[in-house]
Amino acid sequence: MDAEALRAAFEAAGLSTEPVWLPEVGSTQDVATALARDGAVHGTTVVAERQTGGRGRRGRTWVNTPGTVAFSVVLRPTLPARHLGLVPLAAAVGMREALGEVLHIKWPNDLLLPDGRKVAGVLAEAEVTAGQVGHVVLGVGVNVSGAPDLPVAASLAELGKRPPDAAWVVAHGVARILHWLGQPLHVVREAWEDGAAHLGQTIEVAGRTGMCLGLAEDGGLRLRLDDGTEDVVHTGDVQLVSTHPGGS
Ligand code: BTN
Repeated sequence: MDAEALRAAFEAAGLSTEPVWLPEVGSTQDVATALARDGAVHGTTVVAERQTGGRGRRGRTWVNTPGTVAFSVVLRPTLPARHLGLVPLAAAVGMREALGEVLHIKWPNDLLLPDGRKVAGVLAEAEVTAGQVGHVVLGVGVNVSGAPDLPVAASLAELGKRPPDAAWVVAHGVARILHWLGQPLHVVREAWEDGAAHLGQTIEVAGRTGMCLGLAEDGGLRLRLDDGTEDVVHTGDVQLVSTHPGGS
């Protein structure tokens, strides 16, 4: 990918913003956050060939190896802060639509191959003032034609088809994310559940084990616990316990 290919892909995807392309950064999140604080408009996108300090959810690092793409989008959603949890869910729905509906969404926003290995992740970092979302910097990492050498990671190339072009992935990903952010929240929740990896399965998350029931109104994950009660979790990493409800 280069700046010109990216610009052309943005135009083809119908995006009106000029992408910022950088050969190497610490994290695209930091560059996009600085632009957002400087007044960058909704949809401003920063794309890097390499990140030396890429970060993931829950304080983890995000590794960019050849064949992966990294980008961050400045979003200015008109949302009360209590609905912020739906932004990364809308992003996951948009990225799934861009990359292929064969992918499954692991709560809240990982995209998985059908065998459970991860091809893309989303990180949302927001600034909130007086209960209203000022901006969200939404970072997306996609393993397009290559992936880090980790057992849990895979690339789109492993779907067996020619992987899409990296500039296309960024431009169409951003276009679909912006589309889904403009949809009513209940429509986003339905689309997320259509692509969900673990509905009806027994999972463990945030120290609780139960059957995955889908999304709560605020984007939390609903679980049916063993004692029959329902609980909602808002943080944590989902682990599959069993594909059969009840854990057997
Ligand atoms: C996760 O799955 O934990 C989220 C990964 C998010 C990675 C992307 S790559 C572009 C942007 N810049 C970063 O430093 N992180 C996000």
